[in-house]
Amino acid sequence: MNARWTPSSWRSFPAKHIPADYPDAGALAAVEAELRALPPLVFAGEARRLTAELAAVAEGRAFLLQGGDCAESFKEFAADNIRDTFRLILQMAVVLTFAGGKPVVKVGRMAGQFGKPRSSPVEVKDGVELPSYRGDNINGMGFTPEERIPDPQRLLKAYGQSASTLNLLRAFATGGYADLHNVHRWTLGFVEGSPQGARYRELSEKISETLSFIDAIGVNSQSHPTLHQVEIFTSQEPLLLGYEEALTRVDSTSGDWYDTSAHLLWIGERTRQLDGAHVNFAQGVKNPIGVKVGPTVEPDELIRLIDALNPDNVPGRLTLYGRFGSDKIEGRLPALMAATKREGRSVVWAIDPMHGNTLTASTGYKTRPFDRILSEVRSFIEIANATGVHPGGVHLEMTGQNVTECTGGARALSDVDLADRYHTHCDPRLNADQALELAFLVAEKLKSDRQAPSQAAE
Ligand code: PEP
Ligand code: CO
Repeated sequence: MNARWTPSSWRSFPAKHIPADYPDAGALAAVEAELRALPPLVFAGEARRLTAELAAVAEGRAFLLQGGDCAESFKEFAADNIRDTFRLILQMAVVLTFAGGKPVVKVGRMAGQFGKPRSSPVEVKDGVELPSYRGDNINGMGFTPEERIPDPQRLLKAYGQSASTLNLLRAFATGGYADLHNVHRWTLGFVEGSPQGARYRELSEKISETLSFIDAIGVNSQSHPTLHQVEIFTSQEPLLLGYEEALTRVDSTSGDWYDTSAHLLWIGERTRQLDGAHVNFAQGVKNPIGVKVGPTVEPDELIRLIDALNPDNVPGRLTLYGRFGSDKIEGRLPALMAATKREGRSVVWAIDPMHGNTLTASTGYKTRPFDRILSEVRSFIEIANATGVHPGGVHLEMTGQNVTECTGGARALSDVDLADRYHTHCDPRLNADQALELAFLVAEKLKSDRQAPSQAAE
């Protein structure tokens, strides 16, 4: 990045999806000043470690599992919710590692994922028009004029909630909960009786047998800490650049800028303009960066974006998340993947099978049919293999709660079932059953492709 970049450079570029209607600019500036004095949420060394792990993903030696809420909320903030999503990540990682045969890089869409770009700036209900809900760190979900006014105090609350969430995640990851000997305890109650629960039980029995065997030959959690703990990273879409700027600090070891709000930051489909504020901001921070790649991106545009964000072609710096929709991926992804391969750009290619598969159910709910989600993931792996690119990972909206937000899955949720437990603050999430089913599918595909690699992948 050129020497003139500073954490506030973005302010002179066009910025989309950043609220301009804070009633009191002085109050917002005061909150940003307060945030500047608060401790970092994550550390530069951790972000560097994630870059190194993503480099392994880019080279096909590991697999990225990224997931969590579409939008975290103040209301659903509870230790049990955090634990349940964490244990779902652990279960999926076990499935992917054991059945898929690759180490899994675990990244939560957690501990800071609040702000949402909205397709419309206004919401109309029964003839009443109000500004849209934009995430709990900006305004409130309630359909009243007061709730929808952006309030800068919400940024401080989001920071505090992110810090508590991270604290708990770190404790779960290293304090014994994630010890592989607990593998059969991670199943969530409501998954117990499902087909996925049974498949997982079978797999965890095999793992327990293996652990008993290696224990007998002297390999245990004390001698090998990797059996006792995991590393979980955090990620979020850095939408509100004033907040990100305030948390961007110089790392004393390297002298580089890091945005300490999360380990990995991804630029959304609506804010990835080459000359826009969000790309400018991401250019100057050394965190691993992600970009959503939707159905309108052309190969030459993608290469320009890659070169803007990763001019030195550093492996692990940049992750691309395709998000086309199950009906569009075949027509769009092959040329994009072929371009990154042909031009020799080192990127992680991953798939977000959620955002291109959203529709409105007959009952009025925003939903995502599970079979379309699975279909997009399947196409992704097949296209990657045919192009000779590593299918590097999945980026999912999911929760450990027993919600009914996406239709389909082993329990065959219908449009009518959505009303039962529809709790999301923004987009529909996979529940634990559906997420596990997806993990098994990915694992099987990765395994069969490993056993019979395609011509192009050789
Ligand atoms: C999201 O990840 O929640 C999101 C808004 O995705 P996209 O930018 O791909 O639409
Ligand atoms: Co979303």
